[in-house]
Formats: sequence, structure tokens, C-alpha cells
Amino acid sequence: MKLYRVKVPATTANLGPGFDILGMALNFYNIIEVKEIDNGLHIEIEGLGAEELSADKNNLVYQTMNYLFSKADYKPKGLKIKLINQVPISRGLGSSATIIVGGLVLANILAGTPFSDDQLLNFATEIEGHPDNVAPALLGGVVISVITEDEEIIYKKLEVPELKTVVGIPDFQLSTTEAREVLPAQVTFNDAIFNCSRIALLVSALISKDYELLATCFEDRLHQSYRQELVPGMNEVIKGAKDAGALAIALSGAGPSIVALTLENEVEVGETIVQIFARHGTEANYKITEPTSSGVLVEKF
Ligand code: HSE
Repeated sequence: MKLYRVKVPATTANLGPGFDILGMALNFYNIIEVKEIDNGLHIEIEGLGAEELSADKNNLVYQTMNYLFSKADYKPKGLKIKLINQVPISRGLGSSATIIVGGLVLANILAGTPFSDDQLLNFATEIEGHPDNVAPALLGGVVISVITEDEEIIYKKLEVPELKTVVGIPDFQLSTTEAREVLPAQVTFNDAIFNCSRIALLVSALISKDYELLATCFEDRLHQSYRQELVPGMNEVIKGAKDAGALAIALSGAGPSIVALTLENEVEVGETIVQIFARHGTEANYKITEPTSSGVLVEKF
């Protein structure tokens, strides 16, 4: 039996105002390998968070693969799965999206590729609950995803900005569920207009590569201010990183990581983020990354 390996990019969702709509792939990855075997389930996990993930039938890769197998009516005899985690867990960098996308792509291959990428994106969104991380993890680039009234996903992929991304990663986990519980059930008309205007400008600025507009484009009134109580120091970090030279900065996905887009001064921006978090009693580290236009990559051995 052949061994298949997928390399799935980390992602940063929302990009400020684009709550549940926008996401961008970043060039660091989770790797998943799978091989069909004669019987049983063997799961091996290496890397970040390995000790806290279950290596049995509760494992998310396994559950995601099973989701696809039942849709495809395919029954593998046994499975050997290996996960090499480089994306930190529950930090707003799309680690669960990498697992869901990787699991679906691998299961689809084993089942004889019955489903298209568009169908995989719909499955991934159904599992994750929103498309903004899974779409760029699957497709790469900056992806605008819209869920239609019929619950289908329409998406457009944009070229990634020619900028670096500095990701500030606090040393604590924040579940997306918890970060969504603090959000209000309703927002004001003015706040809705505020975000719609920034999203429209952001898409246009990315297409025209008008990066000077990004500071305004990343402003948001739908989720970040409600989440600051969960991320001590968030507002100061955002201000400090701008002062240190970031073009635009936002909470990455549901947080607690912070993502900054930069043309220069990456190290200063990263160090500033870490120092300000430290002043608020939170250890953090930073990673200088780049947006990537490539989504999941499949290799066969
Ligand atoms: N759009 C989602 C949120 C992203 O902000 O809750 C979660 O990763």
C-alpha cells in the first residue's frame, strides 16, 4: 500500500474586519501521513502539542477521514496515521483547519478521489463551522468565502500580498468556542457599516497592492474589542506593533495570536509584541512568516 503525505499551511483568519469571511495561508505547516494497512488503527503524533492530542479513535484526523469515508461509502481495512505538528494548537493559527483539510484530502485519495476540491471545502466548512481558515488551508492565498442561503460555499482566491507576516504567539490556548461566546448577538448598524467598508477597501487594496491602505483596512468593530478581555494586553500590543513599523495588525482568527503585516522592521515588530505581552504577564514568542499562494500539497511514496 502506498504512503500519502500532505503538507497543510497554517492560516490567519478574519484579517481584521473579515469575520468568518477572509483568511490567508502562511508558510508554516502541519504534515500528515497516512497508509492503509491490513487492520487496526495506529496513530503517531510528533511536534507541538503532541502530548495533549489523542492517538485513538477520538483523534481529529481519524474522525475527519471517517467523515469522508462514510460519505464515499469506503471502508479501509486499517490505517496508519502520522502527524507532525508545527502549527501551535488553539492559538488562532488554523491548526484544526490543517487537520480537517489534511484528513479530508487524504481520505479522498484513499477512497479513489470521489470528491472535488469544492466538495471538500463544503465538507471542511461543515466540520469546522466557518470557512475562513479551511478555505486558504485547502487552496492557498487570500480567500474570500461566502456561504450561500443554500449552504454552499462560493469563494474567490486573491494573490497574497508581497509582505512578511509577523505572528506573535502568546503562551496560552484560547478555544474558538470560548472566543465566540464573548461576541454579542447583535451589532449596531454603524458597526456593520464600519466593517463592510473596511472589507471592501481591503479586497481592493490587496488587488491593487496599495499596502499603505492596510492600516485602515484592518480596523474592526465586530469581534476584536469583545475579545480583548481574553487576550490581556491585546490593544497595547496592536498599538505597539504599529509604532514599531507594522503596516497593519490584527488578532489572528479567534486569537490569542496577533498577526502583523510588514514591509520592514520584522524583528522590531516581533520583539515589541513579545515585550508588551510580557508586561501584561503573558509569555509569548514570535515567528516571521510569509503569506503563501499554495494550499495543501500532496506527496505519494
Ligand atoms: N472567524 C473565526 C472567529 C475564526 O474569529 O471566530 C476562528 O479561527
